[in-house]
Amino acid sequence: LLGQTHSTGILPPRDLFQPERPNSRGIDLNDENTLRSLSNILDTALPKTEGDLIVTNPSNHADILSSVTTAKPSAVENAVTAACAAFEEWSNTPADTRATILERAADALEEQMPQLMGIVMREAGKTLANAIAEIREAVDFLRYYGAQARRELQDTTPLGAIVCISPWNFPLAIFLGQVSAALAAGNTVLAKPAEETPLIALAAVTILHDAGIPQNALQFLPGGGETGAALVADTRISGVVFTGSTEVAHIIQKQLANRLTATGTPLPLIAETGGQNAMVVDSSALTEQVVRDVLASAFDSAGQRCSALRVLCLQEDSADHVLTMLKGAMDELKIGNPADVDTDIGPVISADAQKIILSHIDAMRAQGFPVYQTHLPTECANGTFVPPTLIEINNLSALKREVFGPVLHVLRYRSNERAALMECIRKTGYALTFGLHSRIDSTIAELTNSSSAGNIYVNRNIVGAIVGSQPFGGHGLSGTGPKAGGPLYLRRLLSRTAALDTR
Ligand code: NAD
Ligand code: ALA
Repeated sequence: LLGQTHSTGILPPRDLFQPERPNSRGIDLNDENTLRSLSNILDTALPKTEGDLIVTNPSNHADILSSVTTAKPSAVENAVTAACAAFEEWSNTPADTRATILERAADALEEQMPQLMGIVMREAGKTLANAIAEIREAVDFLRYYGAQARRELQDTTPLGAIVCISPWNFPLAIFLGQVSAALAAGNTVLAKPAEETPLIALAAVTILHDAGIPQNALQFLPGGGETGAALVADTRISGVVFTGSTEVAHIIQKQLANRLTATGTPLPLIAETGGQNAMVVDSSALTEQVVRDVLASAFDSAGQRCSALRVLCLQEDSADHVLTMLKGAMDELKIGNPADVDTDIGPVISADAQKIILSHIDAMRAQGFPVYQTHLPTECANGTFVPPTLIEINNLSALKREVFGPVLHVLRYRSNERAALMECIRKTGYALTFGLHSRIDSTIAELTNSSSAGNIYVNRNIVGAIVGSQPFGGHGLSGTGPKAGGPLYLRRLLSRTAALDTR
């Protein structure tokens, strides 16, 4: 029922847009005015707030950006009261009006793009290219859900007050994707961003309020896991939209078990979680293309994407050749502060994240697996960086869990082992993204048919799904569906029969 999204490398992704795709204007890097404003983006004024949650730049810990006040239990309680009280007015606001407000917010995001890019580059360590993509995806979500509400949700019934909990790795796009979907469907929202990235979320909430979302219909609740847990525990809420780790999704799922909506249906949980994403490359694949797509899939965003490639499976016959070229290409990547616009790979989000990734690499090395790492420039000592790393393993069971960073595992297979390999990939229990490279039609068919992943990419990279044309999401340990940026998502945020239609 979730369906799978197949994308091929034959056309560049943006040529795959459907006629109704959201209309996000691109950035023209040849335009002089654009370039002038880009050169100023890192001087952007950051939201000036004060509180106990200190926000620092992961590229440079001396760069303290701001601080915000953690929402304590009393603030959570008041926010839920206000969001429940605002539900009647917002749910009775016509879908057309809700859509118009979201579209107005999309316009404002585009107008404020340089400032917003400045915030995500400093707060989340995004490179220039990733910052552009982040704002564009957020705009696409607002337009896509707005258009769908106008088209399909004129006579539907929303649920109530919805809790939206988001991660730091897409601190604007996922934050706004969740929030705009819940608002488009007519629900009020309690939005809790990740503790690492509250500033860009605050900027987004301000834009939505300025665009016309009533103040109480959208509550902003910065904080960490305790704030999230307090929101989920409040029995007045009508559903949870969560993106983050599989472990936290399980905790939330247990908390919601046995709780019913006002109409007696189970309280909905949309959870989008992690992956142990694989790419299978046979010996007919074009090595240059494989290397380009593996670099983007494994190391873009410093590997901090749920969709990122974790296990590259190379057919034995061509493995040495691919690995030689891949290591050479890894050496060419520029690692460093995203303030330098030619940086390819920025920092990982925090010292904790760095420690977890480095200890995984150490443990693999200690077990005797060959490790190849690129060189870290000295400037990286000011922040939390991990060099792109390649680890050759001999069995998928060597990987116990998702490693959320620039670490690529490589596994060799013989052509007669392909079916067993696909079985091992399925047995990880994750089913988010899967990639394959082959020039043999029957192999492409065999691999796509035997993969259970939510998003399958053929002869291209496996990251950067586009709202509206490549609905994104997995199942099993990777999430509940429905896919974000797809036609079924809003229905899960509606009451009664419409919600059940998506199962
Ligand atoms: P995380 O699970 O640690 O945190 C996510 C959010 O949950 C944060 O806002 C956090 O404060 C909150 N939280 C933590 N404990 C909570 C609790 N007990 N109750 C309620 N809320 C709680 O994940 P992260 O480290 O921020 O993000 C990385 C993870 O997110 C990776 O596993 C990645 O694969 C996944 N992810 C998935 C998708 C997807 O679309 N499938 C997209 C991005 C990230
Ligand atoms: N939607 C994001 C991607 O596809 C996570 O990379």
